[in-house]
Amino acid sequence: MKIQIIDSVRLRLTLWYVSVLAVALVAFSLVVYFLLARTLYNRVDAIRMIDEQARRLTRIVEDMFILARADAGRYPLRKTKFYLDEMIEETARTASVLASSNQVAIDIVNSSEALFYGDEDLLRQMVLNLLDNAIKHTPTSGTVRLRVNRRSREYLIEVSDTGAGIPAEAQPRIFERFYRGDKARSRSEGVNGSGAGLGLAIARWIAEAHEGSLELVRSDEIGTTFLVTLPIPNGG
Ligand SMILES: Nc1ncnc2c1ncn2[C@@H]1O[C@H](COP(=O)(O)OP(=O)(O)O)[C@@H](O)[C@H]1O
Ligand SMILES: [Mg+2]
Repeated sequence: MKIQIIDSVRLRLTLWYVSVLAVALVAFSLVVYFLLARTLYNRVDAIRMIDEQARRLTRIVEDMFILARADAGRYPLRKTKFYLDEMIEETARTASVLASSNQVAIDIVNSSEALFYGDEDLLRQMVLNLLDNAIKHTPTSGTVRLRVNRRSREYLIEVSDTGAGIPAEAQPRIFERFYRGDKARSRSEGVNGSGAGLGLAIARWIAEAHEGSLELVRSDEIGTTFLVTLPIPNGG
């Protein structure tokens, strides 16, 4: 009982801090934006850096927000009917800028239409987090493959890459919050900027919030494969 009260106070505090941080960051970004628009050229680089950092912090705060609300059971899913295969194609388009600047090809293998009932925005974020990692860890001329398949009453979404893999000792830890592997292994900033080690934790929560799962199925020196399993809701 006591622990529950402490937990809920802690949670409220965390949520409150995160809200204040979020507001502060928005204000900070606005100031930087106006400075950037008005300042002489030689200061632009410095301000651009501030802008990048602000974006990165905003991203991290947003991620912490999602997890804090998920912990508090206060992240109601907004479910609609949509096609997983279309959402995945859209997400791949979003990531294609990063992929092409890294000279990584994105290959989509869809077996058929995949009608689903779930929170499209969250599932898009889940795919984007996996895609972002895959692209960041794949060397030039590599390929990131996205595959959607149906197996009886579930959809399987597979994200695989031809990167250098995750070291065996790191594999059990990658889904932990704030865990980040060797920085030298990732070759660039991702679609979301450099992360805080929350991407996989969020992606797994999103899969589980849909009664599904996210697992690392294989990772060795020729690549890595993650698998999302999403049970098809009744009537789907
Ligand atoms: N496809 C991948 N290939 C190699 N390492 C990966 C891959 N996906 C995730 N990782 C490792 O797992 C860690 C955690 O991933 P994530 O939670 O998305 O955090 P972040 O991307 O912010 O580092 C990464 O830092 C990286 O070491
Ligand atoms: Mg990531």
